Amino acid sequence: MKERLEALKQEALLELSSVQSQQELSDLRIKYLGKKGPLTEILRGMGALSADERPIIGQVANDVRAAIENVIEEKQAAYQKEETEKRLRAEMIDVTLPGRPSQQGVVHPLSKVIQEIEDIFTGMGYTVAEGPEIEQDYYNFEALNLPKDHPARDMQDSFYITEEILMRTQTSPVQVRTMEKRKGEVPIKIICPGKVFRRDDDDATHSHMFTQIEGLVIDRNVRMSDLKGTLLQFVQEMYGKQTRIRLRPSFFPFTEPSVEVDVSCAMCGGEGCRTCKQTGWLEILGAGMVHPRVLEMGGYDPKEYTGFAFGMGVERIAMLKYGIDDIRHFYTNDLRFLKQFLHL
Ligand code: DAH
Repeated sequence: MKERLEALKQEALLELSSVQSQQELSDLRIKYLGKKGPLTEILRGMGALSADERPIIGQVANDVRAAIENVIEEKQAAYQKEETEKRLRAEMIDVTLPGRPSQQGVVHPLSKVIQEIEDIFTGMGYTVAEGPEIEQDYYNFEALNLPKDHPARDMQDSFYITEEILMRTQTSPVQVRTMEKRKGEVPIKIICPGKVFRRDDDDATHSHMFTQIEGLVIDRNVRMSDLKGTLLQFVQEMYGKQTRIRLRPSFFPFTEPSVEVDVSCAMCGGEGCRTCKQTGWLEILGAGMVHPRVLEMGGYDPKEYTGFAFGMGVERIAMLKYGIDDIRHFYTNDLRFLKQFLHL
């Protein structure tokens, strides 16, 4: 029996020495140490041994089992180590590779220009007001001296939602809303930035949605010269000290008199170039003295109070400042365009 055990050990060790895979190793474990294996069978036959022989053979059998188990465990450990190493190698991160740069966001050029304009006017004591983009016909037109059949309504083709509600075509309705809120108190000094909407076909200079900034000042003794001085101060902060303005007579139903305001062309300094169509001037806003009827409808007595108002298109201001040639750039979110404003 001892010889059989010894022979079994030799056979097992020989087979184990040429094992090629973990699967083979596990097969051999079952083959030699499993319940149906030769070692179990030999141990079962121990009952037939004498009492003297039993412990001796038992010891040998245990040694054989231990020897086989040892080799199997060693090999198993080697396989596991190899596997771990393989996984570590596969999962290795090369910390010397250059990283992927994450894209840095920038403030949109329109927001930037709005902020700049707000800064200029708050520096002159104005506060920033806001109003709804979906507006009542009353505030957008009627209370601005544009009754229902007024021909000047055609100047601003509108998106109506119902007969009385529309997308505001201008930020001027905030003038009326502010007057209502202030209930006859003075001074009023506000600017109001916001989106406006018109039924225009989009092209390089038109957009069905764009941005305006409205201004309104009401107090006693507000004069046209105050308007002119304010606007001159504004354009010189916006475009530089050398900038001049020119007022041309115009018409808006909510102002009397009304003017259109030109700035000397920032591109050529007034010499005449392509941007200003050789005139040296660029129109940037509409303005005027608040019409007595508008003051009245807003709850202010035009005999006691006067005021001026102005309205400008922010895109146009930005296009002139940065030499942008197409208004659609502001809305198409092309990163090549937007990134140019990273450091401004
Ligand atoms: N709301 C006018 C427009 O959209 C611009 C404007 C002109 C506003 C004169 C004013 C103003 O407040 O006084 O064309």
